[in-house]
Amino acid sequence: MAPNGGTCFFILIVTSAALAQPPDLTAGDKMGFQDIAKKLMMKCQSKGFPLPQMTLLKSVFNSSDLIAADRTAEQSSTLLPTFLQVLTSITPGKNNDPNNQLNLMNTVDKITNKMLNCSHLSFMIQKIKNSSESSSCFLRAFVAPLSWTALITQEDNNLDPDSYDALLWAAKPVLVDVPSETMKLPTKVEGQNMKNMMNMLQEVYKTMTDIQRTQVLKWAKEQIMENYFNCTLRPLPDPQSVLMYHCKPSLQWLDLESLSIMGPYISQLMPEDVDSCPKQKLCEFFLSAQLRSSVGEAAEMGPSLSKKFLQRIQECFSENEFQHHVDKLGRLACYYDAPDLTPDLSQRLLSQLNDCNHTLNPMLKKRLVNCMMSNSSDAKALLSLGNSVTLLSPEQLSALPATNLSNVLQSLGLNLRWTTGQLLSIVRNQLGDKKCDEVSGKDLLALQSVAAGLPSCALKNDKVEEILTDTEALKNMSQQMRKGQLKAMLQGLLGKMNPSELVQKLPGPLLRSISLNNLNKANITSLDQVQNKTWSRPQAAYLAKKMFNLKQLHFQKLNSVLQGVTCEMIDNVSDSSVMEMAQAITKTPQWLSKVQARCATQKLLLTLEKMRPDYLKTITEQELDAIPTTLLLYLPPWNVKNLPDSVCRAFLDKMQMANLSSLPLHAPSRPAITQRALLCLTNGKNLSELTIADVSRLGQLLCEVKPSQIQLMAPDVIKFSLQTMAFCSHIPQLHRPDLIQMVNQTFGNPSDWPEKTMESLGPLLLLDDNTASFLPNKPWMKDVLVFLKSRLHLTSDILQKKLFDLTTAASNAARRKRESKSIIAAFTLNDHEYLLFQIKKYHDLYHVSESSVYLLQLAIEVAPLAM
Ligand SMILES: *[C@@H]1O[C@H](CO)[C@@H](O)[C@H](O)[C@H]1NC(C)=O
Ligand SMILES: *[C@@H]1O[C@H](CO)[C@@H](O)[C@H](O)[C@H]1NC(C)=O
Ligand SMILES: *[C@@H]1O[C@H](CO)[C@@H](O)[C@H](O)[C@H]1NC(C)=O
Ligand SMILES: *[C@@H]1O[C@H](CO)[C@@H](O)[C@H](O)[C@H]1NC(C)=O
Ligand SMILES: *[C@@H]1O[C@H](CO)[C@@H](O)[C@H](O)[C@H]1NC(C)=O
Ligand SMILES: *[C@@H]1O[C@H](CO)[C@@H](O)[C@H](O)[C@H]1NC(C)=O
Ligand SMILES: *[C@@H]1O[C@H](CO)[C@@H](O)[C@H](O)[C@H]1NC(C)=O
Ligand SMILES: *[C@@H]1O[C@H](CO)[C@@H](O)[C@H](O)[C@H]1NC(C)=O
Ligand SMILES: *[C@@H]1O[C@H](CO)[C@@H](O)[C@H](O)[C@H]1NC(C)=O
Ligand SMILES: *[C@@H]1O[C@H](CO)[C@@H](O)[C@H](O)[C@H]1NC(C)=O
Ligand SMILES: *[C@@H]1O[C@H](CO)[C@@H](O)[C@H](O)[C@H]1NC(C)=O
Repeated sequence: MAPNGGTCFFILIVTSAALAQPPDLTAGDKMGFQDIAKKLMMKCQSKGFPLPQMTLLKSVFNSSDLIAADRTAEQSSTLLPTFLQVLTSITPGKNNDPNNQLNLMNTVDKITNKMLNCSHLSFMIQKIKNSSESSSCFLRAFVAPLSWTALITQEDNNLDPDSYDALLWAAKPVLVDVPSETMKLPTKVEGQNMKNMMNMLQEVYKTMTDIQRTQVLKWAKEQIMENYFNCTLRPLPDPQSVLMYHCKPSLQWLDLESLSIMGPYISQLMPEDVDSCPKQKLCEFFLSAQLRSSVGEAAEMGPSLSKKFLQRIQECFSENEFQHHVDKLGRLACYYDAPDLTPDLSQRLLSQLNDCNHTLNPMLKKRLVNCMMSNSSDAKALLSLGNSVTLLSPEQLSALPATNLSNVLQSLGLNLRWTTGQLLSIVRNQLGDKKCDEVSGKDLLALQSVAAGLPSCALKNDKVEEILTDTEALKNMSQQMRKGQLKAMLQGLLGKMNPSELVQKLPGPLLRSISLNNLNKANITSLDQVQNKTWSRPQAAYLAKKMFNLKQLHFQKLNSVLQGVTCEMIDNVSDSSVMEMAQAITKTPQWLSKVQARCATQKLLLTLEKMRPDYLKTITEQELDAIPTTLLLYLPPWNVKNLPDSVCRAFLDKMQMANLSSLPLHAPSRPAITQRALLCLTNGKNLSELTIADVSRLGQLLCEVKPSQIQLMAPDVIKFSLQTMAFCSHIPQLHRPDLIQMVNQTFGNPSDWPEKTMESLGPLLLLDDNTASFLPNKPWMKDVLVFLKSRLHLTSDILQKKLFDLTTAASNAARRKRESKSIIAAFTLNDHEYLLFQIKKYHDLYHVSESSVYLLQLAIEVAPLAM
């Protein structure tokens, strides 16, 4: 990168250094650069990176260098103190250490408004890139938001590609950790810079939400139109300034270049956009397998766009010709209604279906597998099935030569999910007529991937001891075994080893099967013996009590033992250790129960108020930061309500990241927190003045905002909010009818929606059983519902019923029969009762007892193993 290669300026607003006055929340809709830097620095800290030494800082912020670049030395003298100030804010306590260099922060100016010269940044970035020290993470955290600001505020595009690339490199962490910043993409980027920007955006695709991805696509489309087609999609600016026209809707803008710079963002195209792709170009893009790779990197693409692509690609070929390219379909294959294919083509198509959600077209896979296996003399077929080997029926599995099946088990290992019927077939196939006591340790090892199908008696015998020496195999086996099998195995082992040894040696699932009685005999006297193992809840309760009595209940080291901690134990923590306890238990949220979180919050609150009455009413930002977010969620409503305005920024930051699933659905603090956050956002303004960036700061709290309040927002914010809420995992019951009505008002009557709209907003309609059951019976509705079901893990009865009804309503009886089977095949064990209901319904519909028997067999076959 040439330091003098280009110039750009942007205004660096350094807000009050000591944060003495309340943060300016009129500007608080966006996260300031310091907030972002702080967030990124906290990430460096959580990775355990050391703080940078002064020598590194001096070299990066070397004022001589900076002066060499530009004679306004003043700038560099502000940057270092600002850096130190942000760094200090994440290391509370350390700034009192007289030996700590961070004391320099005392020299910080109060407020600086500065034009920052990009060459300064370029210098710093170059130095940081050059540094191999892990502590440079903190420096990168600091220059990231500066670089991003430089990228989005500079208008004149005269940065050379190298400098631009350096800024992109430096800015990337912002987009990774604050993906909402993609809502602020630069107004205009041209040429190579545009390609580089898209490369960077492609790299951060995975961290974004669908709405952010759509935003990026919209932006890219605008840039493409303006850069390559001399027309614009935006409202025409000053008509005299540029000779630019509105793009014609028929413009064939989606050419090869556009397709390739968009990469995975093509998943956000509207189906109509695909019509803007010249046929030859699309065929080329497909044949070069670029389409497969773009789609492969994308998140699941909706059925409307997938089917559109598929349809246009098929137009490139005759049907017969097309079949020879099925291996370039990638995930589009999920929507390909394949005709009968040769075994070879079947295999090629099957390999594309691996990434498809099995719910989409389970019968197709089965058909392909049967086709491949039809030529039983074909030795390679079995291995080439890959994971689809699980689609072989128990009969097919039984019929395989034992060595061949054994080869498959060895090569595919543990990642296969078999049904009970298949497991039994495989084990019978492999063990033949062997009696339980004839099964050797070697046999057991060979069958570890199908351990769940082994008879319990075989696990009890003497050979089991042999496996103990192979701890990894034992772990692999035990992870799949059923309760009864684990018990049997443990029984066998208990005869040969004492409980103390077992606790030391056994892997997780077996360990969790040890009875409390035996645990008691295991001579556990210190937390170290048990801290790194995963215990069951009753075991954890036993161990926590024991540690409590031994005065060894060190919260930092509990891990899964935390499950057994009672409220009394939490109440017993000394005042001086309460904050430490609070921080420790929230570090392992998977072991923290809601009850414990509530008790810990109460205890914390009590302690804090002992320290200072009305602690929360007068809390400072730093004090709020110290309280773990999980516990903040449990504050009593009146405490939340009384939080001072001065902590709004910190409060919103915490709430944006909060995971509401750790809070009971009906917790009174849910509405209280939501309202407090809204009040923080508006800060005296009207709800109608909130921007999209504002409501984005609510994080999951947006799901809890009252419809009557959303209604008061600006139209684009309402749209954005509703689209976002379609991804909520929970929306309060009482809000649902009004929300659905608002969706109806904002996006038109759902019965007129096109497929694509249904894909993005459908989840809101499914919130209400009544609305859901009246969804129009469009031909594409089933695909959309299957898509939403798999994507949002929806399991409502009404959705299942609707799916079934849509399927059985199809006119063609043969198709209906085939699809009913596929729908039923898609049900999991959780849907067991519903499955039976369907089978009965199917039976009633067709009055064919034979098919019921078949379906029942199918049901047993598809139901995953009950563990
Ligand atoms: C700062 O830059 C000057 C001039 O480039 C150089 O002589 C000096 O060694 C640098 N100081 C540090 C601490 O890197
Ligand atoms: C920024 O730095 C460049 C390169 O050193 C210099 O040419 C330019 O005058 C500087 N601009 C400002 C406003 O300081
Ligand atoms: C970066 O490192 C290379 C090789 O170590 C060195 O030649 C170069 O001068 C360094 N650049 C800066 C800006 O420190
Ligand atoms: C766009 O305009 C520029 C300058 O007016 C011209 O050179 C270029 O050929 C135009 N491109 C297209 C695709 O019309
Ligand atoms: C079956 O296998 C034989 C021998 O490998 C081969 O010649 C034949 O073409 C295969 N049949 C089909 C339908 O693939
Ligand atoms: C089955 O095993 C035999 C002998 O090990 C081998 O010759 C044959 O090719 C294998 N067949 C399959 C389908 O793997
Ligand atoms: C146990 O499972 C792991 C992960 O699936 C695998 O890598 C490993 O080889 C297995 N161990 C044995 C002994 O087969
Ligand atoms: C229990 O542990 C203690 C200390 O480690 C040891 O002295 C004692 O022998 C152990 N008792 C049994 C039954 O293992
Ligand atoms: C438990 O795991 C932690 C982190 O991996 C490690 O530091 C500690 O030494 C382990 N303790 C025991 C007793 O193995
Ligand atoms: C949407 O609004 C129209 C007109 O007000 C109404 O007829 C229709 O039932 C509404 N649909 C839903 C799903 O609420
Ligand atoms: C498929 O859908 C199920 C739920 O219907 C979901 O749990 C699973 O994660 C999905 N799999 C993939 C690969 O998307």
